[in-house]
Amino acid sequence: MRPRVMFRATLLMLGVTALTLAACRTTAQTPSMTAAEAIDARQKLMKEQGKAWKDIQDKTKAGQIAAIVPDAEKLASTSKQIPGLFPEGSLNPDKSLAKPEIWQKRADFDAAAKNLETWSVKLRDAAKANDAEQTQAIVKDFGRQACGTCHQPFRVPPKQQ
Ligand code: HEC
Repeated sequence: MRPRVMFRATLLMLGVTALTLAACRTTAQTPSMTAAEAIDARQKLMKEQGKAWKDIQDKTKAGQIAAIVPDAEKLASTSKQIPGLFPEGSLNPDKSLAKPEIWQKRADFDAAAKNLETWSVKLRDAAKANDAEQTQAIVKDFGRQACGTCHQPFRVPPKQQ
């Protein structure tokens, strides 16, 4: 009787070990994307942000305050994707304007993405309330405070277009 119980216990332990090893391997092997894919994806996302930001400025000028809501929401959601698109090892000065500081001061970089989210939500709420004065005041500082605070320390200045 006893040896059989032990045999079963051993089998069970082997099973657990195998499962644990498999789990560890999966975690270690989840490079969600290659460096090249990350660079493509973040440049695409930034272009979308550029478009949303331009729409916001144009609409504010035209007095279309409530129409800004979807653009601000867009920025709030893209801001959350930023940190994930700058994985370790995706520095590539030939293809990307990302500075090495991103990975040296990771917490500051992630905070800059969070800051964009905070500003976008603030802008969305002002637009939603159709508060033209407050919306204009936020838009006035947005470029510098929400985008520039990250571009300045973490992006190589783009060449003049
Ligand atoms: C948390 C940091 C961060 C924030 C916030 C941020 N950016 Fe960027 N942005 C970057 C970095 C880094 C690059 C360079 C990416 C690369 O080349 O790999 C970039 C690149 C860009 C580009 C060039 C994309 C291309 O390759 O053509 C545009 C346009 C842009 N950002 C617009 C914006 C706008 C508009 C905002 C604010 C609404 C914003 N960004 C907020 C970090 C940020």
